[in-house]
Amino acid sequence: MPTVRDVREQAGEEPITMLTAYDAPTARIVDEAGVDIILVGDSVGNTALGHETTLPVTVDGMAHHVGAVSRATEDALVVADMPFLSFGVDETESLENAGRMLKEEDAQAVKLESGPHTVDITEKMVQLGIPVMAHLGLTPQHVNQYGGYPRQGTDRDAAERMLELAIEHEEAGAFSLVLEHVPANLAAEITEAIDIPTIGIGAGPDCDGQVLVIDDAVGLSEWSPSFSAQFGDVREEMASAVDDYVDAVESGSFPAEEHSHEESDLEDIY
Ligand code: KIV
Ligand code: NA
Repeated sequence: MPTVRDVREQAGEEPITMLTAYDAPTARIVDEAGVDIILVGDSVGNTALGHETTLPVTVDGMAHHVGAVSRATEDALVVADMPFLSFGVDETESLENAGRMLKEEDAQAVKLESGPHTVDITEKMVQLGIPVMAHLGLTPQHVNQYGGYPRQGTDRDAAERMLELAIEHEEAGAFSLVLEHVPANLAAEITEAIDIPTIGIGAGPDCDGQVLVIDDAVGLSEWSPSFSAQFGDVREEMASAVDDYVDAVESGSFPAEEHSHEESDLEDIY
């Protein structure tokens, strides 16, 4: 079982691979492929739950998915994403919500969308034994502030603020940092400036690792961001299986004899 320490030690040695998963069968596939970290992302709101944004995702909802992923994962590090307003409002509640993912759902770390408001809570969680993955750049829980999902850190001031926040979260004890939708040269600069591993999504090739949303990676999403890449066509594969099933039932070829059980001795029943 890799630990947050193994992840830290892998930085700069070998690229860190991270993918999301939200359910047991997917987690099993991702884990068996040797992916280092499975993130149970609040992107579950967009993917499995069909919401427009991640904002409606709840702590109970996350716990449900984190438990499913943990039960199916043997080797990867399982990280639970903390949903909108589950952290940063009230300290006690933040700690209880995050602690629950480790204590009840067997995650090994949590991820917080980071900002100036998460430095103290990151430090407190780490002190209590809850490893924290930080997340800077595009933080989708701010969609209403951004008015969409624009690239971040594109001017000098914003870039410097992001670098400062990266350093502050490293100092607060975060074990790694996701950088989302930021210029490649800024991601490279942040990666150089801090010792903890950076894991990029739409952040160029120079991060210590990469992450994608599983639905985007395997071709299950109807829409995916331009910085994503598709490595399969699961949607097509599933659609074709479902079509074949419908045809088989409609034509009477399923169920066939081999799918049916022997006749019951009806006298035993009635
Ligand atoms: O929720 C998510 O899937 C994420 C990753 C894209 C980093 O936060
Ligand atoms: Na997320």
